[in-house]
Formats: sequence, C-alpha cells, structure tokens
Amino acid sequence: MLLEMNNITKRFGAVKALDNVSLRLESGEVMSLCGENGSGKSTLMKILCGLYPHGDFEGQIYFAGDEIQAQTIRDTERKGIVIIHQELALVRQLTVMENIFLGAELGRFGIVDDETMTLRCQQLLARVKLNVSPHTRVGDLGLGQQQLVEIARALNKQVRLLILDEPTSSLTERETEVLLSIIHNLRDHGIACIYISHKLNEVKAISDTICVIRDGKPIATRPAAGLSEDDIITMMVGRELTALYPHQRHAIGETVLRVENLTAWHPVNRHVRRVNDVSFSLKRGEILGIAGLVGAGRTETVQCLFGVWPGRWQGDIWINGKKVQINDCQQAIAQGIAMVPEDRKKDGIVPLMSVGKNITLAALDQFSHRFAPLDETREQHTINASIARLRVKTSSPELAIGRLSGGNQQKAILAKCLLLNPQILILDEPTRGIDVGARQEIYLLINSLVQQGIAVIVISSELPEVLGLSDRVLVMHEGRIKADLINDNLTQEQVMEAALRSEHYA
Ligand SMILES: Nc1ncnc2c1ncn2[C@@H]1O[C@H](COP(=O)(O)OP(=O)(O)OP(=O)(O)O)[C@@H](O)[C@H]1O
Ligand SMILES: [Mg+2]
Repeated sequence: MLLEMNNITKRFGAVKALDNVSLRLESGEVMSLCGENGSGKSTLMKILCGLYPHGDFEGQIYFAGDEIQAQTIRDTERKGIVIIHQELALVRQLTVMENIFLGAELGRFGIVDDETMTLRCQQLLARVKLNVSPHTRVGDLGLGQQQLVEIARALNKQVRLLILDEPTSSLTERETEVLLSIIHNLRDHGIACIYISHKLNEVKAISDTICVIRDGKPIATRPAAGLSEDDIITMMVGRELTALYPHQRHAIGETVLRVENLTAWHPVNRHVRRVNDVSFSLKRGEILGIAGLVGAGRTETVQCLFGVWPGRWQGDIWINGKKVQINDCQQAIAQGIAMVPEDRKKDGIVPLMSVGKNITLAALDQFSHRFAPLDETREQHTINASIARLRVKTSSPELAIGRLSGGNQQKAILAKCLLLNPQILILDEPTRGIDVGARQEIYLLINSLVQQGIAVIVISSELPEVLGLSDRVLVMHEGRIKADLINDNLTQEQVMEAALRSEHYA
C-alpha cells in the first residue's frame, strides 16, 4: 500500500469540512476523487500534501509504510507527493523556466547553470508536449498552457504520487488528451495519481478506482470499470438527476444588441487580428451560444463588448437601436452589460475580500444615495439573498472569498453579475469547475432570467453545453464568424463542420 489516510477529520471553526474520511491507494493506481462543490476534495488533498500541518486535523497518514507528520508542503514533496492546485500557482511575471525551477534550481553549491536549466526545461516541456520557449513569460501563455507548465514543474520533482486538482477545467480537448496520456504514462512507471475533476467522462476514462465524498463524509470507493457516469452522479448528489439541460423554447423579442464589423488586434503583435470583421445581433429573451475552438476569437469578441480587451479594436456597437461607446467595463455596466469572465482568479474576484463584499462590489451605488453613507442593513440583506439564491456554500458572508471551494467562488461571481440587473449577460465558461448538480441549477437560473427578458451570450468549450442552452449558435473560427445557426436540434458534428468549412459564411 502506497498511501493510507485514516479517519481524517478537519474543522474550519464550527464547520466540519471533513468527517472521518479514509482513503487507500496503491503504487501505479489512478484514483478519482469525486464530490460536489464544497464536499471537501481540495481540503483532503491539502491535508495530504502538508498544506494543513500535522496537528491541524485529526487522523493519520501513512506513505510508503511511514507515518507522515508534515509541517509544510516541503516535507511531503521530499517524499514524492506533489500537488497541482485547483487555482494555478505560477508567477505570471516570471518565465516558464523560472517557474519550473522556482525553489529547486539545478546546480551544485547553489550555483545555477543556465544552460543545463534550459536543456532540462526543454526536456520537461517536450514531455508535456508544450511547444513554447523556456524564456516565455508565463503571463503571456493561455490558461491551458500554464496548466501544462505546472505539470512540467511537478515532473521536475521526484514524484511518486501526483495530485491533480481539477487540472483540465481550463484545457482544450487536445490538451486534455495530452494530459490524460501523460498520466497513463506515469502510471506505467508506477507513479500513483489522485485526480479531481467535475468532467465525469474524463474520470471514467482515466481512473482505476473512484472515491466519492459528500458533505465531507465518505460515501464509497469502487472500481471505475463497474460504474456508469449516472452511478457516479447518484453517489455524489445522493439522488438521481433528471435532464441536465432545461430545453425550453424562449419567446424571443426585439434586437437588444447589434455588433457591426468588429475587428480586434493582438495587444502585443499589433498586426495580428484576433477578431476579424465580426457582425451579429442578439435579441431580448434569447440565448446566443458562441462555439469554436480555442483561439477562435470568442473571448476576445466579448471582451471588446465589455470594454476589457487590452488591445486596439474598432467596430460599432448598438444597444436598443442606439450607437454606444464602450471603452471600459464601467461604461459597459452602465449600458446594462454584465460579464462572468473566463479567468476567475485574474478577473473575477478579490480573494482577500469577503464573499459578501465581492458580491456587492460592482453594485455599491444601489446601497447609497448620492452622499449618504452605505445602507449596510440593506446591503447585508441583499448579500444573504444572493447567497441563498445561488446556494453559495460558505460558512459566513464574512469569509474571505479565496477560502471558498472553487465552484462556490464561481457561483459568487455569477451572483455579483446578477446584482447589476443586466439586460445583456455574457457568460464566458460559466460552469467551469461547477459540479453536475449545481450546473443544473445554474442552467435553470439562466433560463428563468431569459424568460424575464434578459439576453444571454454564452461561450463554452463544451459543445454539449452550448447546444443544450442556446437558441442560436454562432460558430467562430480564426477570428471570423463562419456560421450563424438556429439551434433546431443542431448536432456537434454540424457545428464542427461549420467551423472548419473553408468558404466564408455570407
Ligand atoms: N480556509 C478555509 N476557511 C474556512 N472554510 C474553508 C476553508 N477552506 C475550505 N473551507 C470550506 O470547506 C468546505 C470544503 O471545501 P473544499 O475546497 O475542500 O471543497 P471541494 O470539494 O474542493 O469543492 P470544489 O469542487 O468546488 O472545488 C467548503 O465548505 C469550504 O468553504
Ligand atoms: Mg476544490
């Protein structure tokens, strides 16, 4: 037995995040840890890797026969336990190589040999099939590429047990395939892996065993081969889920947004067009999905609409028949636009601020009139209502939002956007990191908003999500719109085919 965690219990104040959880793992075993948002998965892994020190929880941990009483993450890394956290932990200002070797520079007597490091770095990048220079700044990489850098960084250590906490939530399908094959390869070399993901198809594909926890309590550990996705969901949620997508036809009203000839240039490579002459419209009561591969220009398009595209752009935006100027997000919000951004850690939250304050952050003027002081009672009331509406799992509205589980942070961002009472709601990967049960709740919520006349734009790298939600689908490829399709039982194949078709859509 490589790993035994026995009767782990962890409290945060009055909250029992883990209640008597045990877990066993053999060398070369891949185990998925499944459970709803806030069920305690990340917490259990933080305990395993020493982030919560010995004494800060109840229970024992044995690794390769020895009891571990780690004080820091260094103690477990030395034994070969390496974790890649849910929220990426790279330093954006440093290069890929600097990040990979951070705290572990090669070289004897502390002298760092640049050439050896570059060479070693290139080998590691090749292993994760990431084709970038070691000297690229991490901040210039996409989220998926950053994730691969994290994995390269883990491989640089003498790893015996690799823990991946939602590694694919921001990866493309191809990147995900690469990652899964890397894990298979590691397994063949006897390296064990604990894998956390809300994408159950991946969980099925990768795991030898599946361990489910619910509300911090152990439910079961079973061989993956005998379980269907529905079985896993039932174990996670404690009940069977009916149809995931609401599939309702909406009463579509007049045009609320019209975009004409939108072109956006890359902020650094100024001659490169990321969005190329894009025109489309959006109607009240409509859900417009934007499909396309990564790099298709979907996020760039909506960033222009929301006034946050960092590069130059041009084009006309009409809202309710009036031409408007949008140069920053305040102007966008004033025009009734709200957006849930793709990168939650960078653009979505202020981690040290409370859950409540994060929710009301963009809507503070609702709670004060001119120069009157903030009406804190009303603000508090609104915060509580928002938390209840989206079922954000938090022990208190005062808790720093950075301490919430990943999926619950995402729900809080959604709550923040809804407080703005937008007429146009833009959702860029809205359910990233959100468990199936909560996903269904969010879909129902989006649907009810649309029924009240809000217009929604949704971008998702998961085609079933785009198809399950949208009334109409724009297909983008390399910065251009290739098709504008009414979603009359559209299939994934039809959308992919439209994306890759060579002639332009007229
Ligand atoms: N530092 C902390 N302080 C207070 N509460 C915490 C802290 N860390 C975690 N919690 C709480 O413990 C519970 C378990 O959180 P955890 O992050 O382990 O969930 P998770 O299963 O990883 O969820 P997700 O799928 O959303 O990532 C949550 O209710 C969370 O709010
Ligand atoms: Mg988590």
